[in-house]
Amino acid sequence: MRKPLPDPLLSIGELARRTGLSVSAIRFYETKGLVKPLRTSGAQRRFPRSDIRRLSFALIAQQLGLSLEEIARALAGLPQGRAPSRQDWARISGQVRAALDTRIALLERTRENLDGCIGCGCLSLDRCALYNPGDRASRAGAGPRFLLGDRASDFGEV
Ligand code: FES
Repeated sequence: MRKPLPDPLLSIGELARRTGLSVSAIRFYETKGLVKPLRTSGAQRRFPRSDIRRLSFALIAQQLGLSLEEIARALAGLPQGRAPSRQDWARISGQVRAALDTRIALLERTRENLDGCIGCGCLSLDRCALYNPGDRASRAGAGPRFLLGDRASDFGEV
């Protein structure tokens, strides 16, 4: 088994500088269990340098729309007490990839339909008469059905 890489300890200020997160944001992530700092004899927090990757992952995942619960669940799969290896990260990436794929699909549908009918029920665009006559998309439920994954052809001829 490969010897774990050294994981030097950083202060919360050093972690904030490198991640671009505020000290209060890092403390918030700590309260959510995303990072678990060690304490010096003077009760100061010290974070393994590998926490930079955990926090950077959390920062980007939040910007991509993952909830803190989803992020905490994913990061809980990483080992504590040593720097997670590439294999450790690969192991948790499966869950995250599925969540990201869902968001990417929503983003792509939104980009493709920005100027078209999104099946929301407003019937305010000329295309609505073609793609969502009589708001038939509402049969599938509330919300912009064509952005949520339904197709106009699911409700009849287009
Ligand atoms: S855009 Fe709202 S129903 Fe077509």
